[in-house]
Amino acid sequence: MKKFLAIALAAVLLFAFAACAGNKTTDGNATDGNVTDGNATAGDVKPVLSMATEAGFMPYEYYEGDEIVGIDVEIAKLIADKLGMELEIADIDFNQIIPSVQSGKYAMGMAGLTVDATRLESVNFSTSYATGVQVVIVKDGGSVATLDDIAGKKIGVQTSTTGDLIASDEFGEESIQRFERTADAVTALVNDKIDCVIIDNEPAKKFVEANEGLKILETTYAVEDYAICFAKENTELLEKVDTALKELIADGSVKAIIDKYIAA
Ligand code: ARG
Repeated sequence: MKKFLAIALAAVLLFAFAACAGNKTTDGNATDGNVTDGNATAGDVKPVLSMATEAGFMPYEYYEGDEIVGIDVEIAKLIADKLGMELEIADIDFNQIIPSVQSGKYAMGMAGLTVDATRLESVNFSTSYATGVQVVIVKDGGSVATLDDIAGKKIGVQTSTTGDLIASDEFGEESIQRFERTADAVTALVNDKIDCVIIDNEPAKKFVEANEGLKILETTYAVEDYAICFAKENTELLEKVDTALKELIADGSVKAIIDKYIAA
């Protein structure tokens, strides 16, 4: 009996050991605590660097066929390469990016994301790698001809963006029409459901290029810094990504990517 118990115990121990060892080779899951060490393991299974974005924001992140491409994607790929990690992109609603990074569902958020004081209460940001400014898209010959015409009109914004915050502050909650996707806001403008769209300048240019009869009103809003966000407690990954990003800025890689998408 004793002998049987000993064998059973040994079997259980062996099994538990094997299970642990097995786990190690599958490390590199975004939700796995070990992912933040950023080391490619001997098994050649690269740890995953998961990135939350909202891929309706040309030229930073958008679809080319089934693939998400753009400035943010290319920069993130170079960062992942430097860290020996495998980039995995999740396209989610913009207003879910910060909460899902905060909760640890995704390791970082990169989405032409502006650094602002309120967001800094919930997440940390990397070094800034680009800038943007809020502009107003209007219809040529439409109800808004100058910035002075906006008050009292229907303003389209993407939910929870800085455009949403600025518009709500400046023109009042009642004039805001929120959209999950910027493209839907632009479609609403084209179809005269709203009078203008407040959005970052580079995507604005792309929408105007793609839709006849639209134009951009330049504003004097502050220049915004785009950066990558991380959960407050994930300082280890933030530091690694930040070091990689700074190198990519210093050696001109970031500028080359931006120039490739935005005619200088
Ligand atoms: N820069 C603005 C913000 O941070 C808009 C970003 C929208 N990004 C996107 N991928 N839809 O609020």
